[in-house]
Amino acid sequence: MSDTKDKKENALLIQKAKDALKNSYSPYSKFRVGAALITSNDNIYTGCNIENSSYGATICAERTAIVKAVSSGERNLKKIAIVSDTNDLTFPCGICLQVISEFMSDGKIILEDKDKNIHIYKVSQFLPHAFNM
Ligand code: THU
Repeated sequence: MSDTKDKKENALLIQKAKDALKNSYSPYSKFRVGAALITSNDNIYTGCNIENSSYGATICAERTAIVKAVSSGERNLKKIAIVSDTNDLTFPCGICLQVISEFMSDGKIILEDKDKNIHIYKVSQFLPHAFNM
């Protein structure tokens, strides 16, 4: 993929993640998260965090997007963008990293900082030794 196309795709994913964040259901933490992923078929799926009064039942934005993609028949994910309301980069939690690595082992995680600079990480940078059976 050309550099320009890659940059455009990253910007689109960040925008889609911001749109998805608006649907965040986070009355307990008040921490809104949005995610958008692109599959090898170039389809985009989005997600937000969905909290629950039984806190452990909370679903992170990344996993919402992944569940939507996989349940639609997509198992090969290329990139996932993650945004929140904070000024800091929002890195995926450990559970999400394990789920991301299942379907996107050599994919990229796309984050945007408060100055709108894009940061790109390999999944393997965060989880070099993912659990595998
Ligand atoms: N959260 C995500 O959506 N993604 C992450 O990777 C980290 C945490 C959500 C879960 C919860 O609703 C809120 O952020 C605070 O933990």
